[in-house]
Amino acid sequence: MADSNSALPQIAVIGAGIFARTQYIPRLREIADLVVLKAIWSRSAASTKAACELARDFAPEIECKWGDSGLDDIINDHSILGVVVVLAGQVQVDISLKMLKAGKHVIQEKPAAGSVAEAETALSSYNSLNSSSPTKPIWALAENYRFEPAFIESGKMVKDIGDMMNIQVIVEGSMNSSNPYFSSSWRRNFFGGFVLDMGVHFVAGLRMLVGCEIASVSSIARHVDSALPPPDNLCSLFQLENGCAGVFLFAVNSRSPKILWRVDGTKGAVQVERSVDQGKHGYMVSFCSEKGECTKTFHPFCGVNEELKAFVCDISNASTGAIADYKPEPRYLYIEGARDVAVLEAMLESSSKQGCTVLVKNF
Ligand SMILES: *[C@@H]1O[C@H](CO)[C@@H](O)[C@H](O)[C@H]1NC(C)=O
Ligand SMILES: *[C@@H]1O[C@H](CO)[C@@H](O)[C@H](O)[C@H]1NC(C)=O
Repeated sequence: MADSNSALPQIAVIGAGIFARTQYIPRLREIADLVVLKAIWSRSAASTKAACELARDFAPEIECKWGDSGLDDIINDHSILGVVVVLAGQVQVDISLKMLKAGKHVIQEKPAAGSVAEAETALSSYNSLNSSSPTKPIWALAENYRFEPAFIESGKMVKDIGDMMNIQVIVEGSMNSSNPYFSSSWRRNFFGGFVLDMGVHFVAGLRMLVGCEIASVSSIARHVDSALPPPDNLCSLFQLENGCAGVFLFAVNSRSPKILWRVDGTKGAVQVERSVDQGKHGYMVSFCSEKGECTKTFHPFCGVNEELKAFVCDISNASTGAIADYKPEPRYLYIEGARDVAVLEAMLESSSKQGCTVLVKNF
């Protein structure tokens, strides 16, 4: 086994929280033929050990690392090409930059940053990294929506609906006490609360669907449900760079969950809606043509897998140096995640100014 695996890239997971245990470990098990999970790190020994046990069936040699010395071990282990950073939103950027400076490729969980200012500082540190090595380390931002086939396909369909007339994004979420993230403490001490943390996904979906940037917003955010951190409701009017306007309505917790994106054009309409088909969770994509003919296609979720696979392929290719002028997958570049944060920050800023129009920071 060691022999057949010796050519595979080795990575470490930095973080052992809910998302690391319930998403990354199962997804890494599915691609154990492409990548070796060499180590897991967490601040505390107990949570690292618990996460390591979950991975031992497909990573029998896994090393459990914790505390500052464990993090240094990972930094100094040159066999580890890349790391997955899955930590609290407040510390992810610092740890990602530390790893990038040590020459590791990084795939960091969303949100890209807690604010536009943090993202700008982070990008300038990253851009100033000495790239004397053949390839500068990749900084990928895991948001998965840009890898969901539903958004890739609907983004192509939008080109066949003529001129865009209007856009609706309706998110009635279900972040209640049954949700494992409901009590997550870092999200309760984070600027924008769940609106920022969850909202980056819905903005990413919107940007993929319309294939255009959001130029300006005007919003009202409110705090209605006292069990949630503020704000938990957002109503926003936005305008795209192409001039088309739309609404973005977001309730973090609703009794009647519904999540959809819809673009109405002069020659048809495209809609993406969260749904369940034959027990699988995913998206129903509908396209209605000029003649009124409608088609529906269901796409089960697979964005987390696709994104992780792309990262593993990219770091393998980047490390062999076989491909001159190697370019990583553009959909997961850190800057894309920063753009999603910028839209939400502008929406929240507009609300603090009673709905005045705010321009979205252009990265
Ligand atoms: C939380 O939301 C889910 C989905 O709508 C629902 O099935 C569940 O009953 C809700 N739990 C509580 C405690 O309200
Ligand atoms: C990168 O690696 C994958 C598999 O690891 C391969 O299929 C692909 O052709 C390589 N090249 C590029 C440019 O992605």
